[in-house]
Amino acid sequence: MARIAVAEGVRWIVATPHQEGWSATACQRIQAAVQNLQRELNLNGIPLSLSSGVELLVTHTLLQTSGDERVHTLNGSRYVLLELPAFDYPLYTAEVIFSLQLRGLVPILAHPERNVIIQDDISRIVRLVQRGVLVQLSVDSLSPSADRDVRRCAQELLRRGLVHLLASDAHNAGRRAPRLAAGVRAAARIVGLERAQAMVTSVPEAILGDRELDIEMMTPPSPRRWWQRLFDTRDDSEA
Ligand SMILES: [Fe+2]
Repeated sequence: MARIAVAEGVRWIVATPHQEGWSATACQRIQAAVQNLQRELNLNGIPLSLSSGVELLVTHTLLQTSGDERVHTLNGSRYVLLELPAFDYPLYTAEVIFSLQLRGLVPILAHPERNVIIQDDISRIVRLVQRGVLVQLSVDSLSPSADRDVRRCAQELLRRGLVHLLASDAHNAGRRAPRLAAGVRAAARIVGLERAQAMVTSVPEAILGDRELDIEMMTPPSPRRWWQRLFDTRDDSEA
């Protein structure tokens, strides 16, 4: 997986295993494992930096303060990666997000395009983004082999300027490998190359450096007109 990532132009990976509920011990285990793997990469001369984090499932238990929330964030920053269940949009979602923000954390929502309720009602994401939530799309969702509804939702989120990050959702070296390049190209056809590249370079870099992000600046002025999209399609066929 590390070699695939390097070949894709990736230089820095945040490992974010699934996690349900606050657990400092789980996070410490992840950090130790990531440090071990980093040593292996160094020994093998693989030019890849690793950081740790978790992908936290939105559950009502997150409303309880744990005192060590920061252990669960991306690289110890203020940014915390959240995911929704695939077939449910829990009633307490907004409340959980608010309470995390009150604790000084900035939630990043992973792959909302896979959630069936969001697919039917993108305005939920509009409201979350207006409240300062960042959105991370899985590049797999932009692939022609993705589920049709997932892909359509992913494209619509990009078109409406609701995406801040692109990530691989890598799980193995096979079908869910840490590939990014094709996804960045697909996103670039909708938001332009500069913005698509920022989603895998300057934005994640600011997050991992625990710097503040100007979300307003990351939102494009207006949707592209139909004739502009016509040119996008033409670029697409030439690429
Ligand atoms: Fe996930």
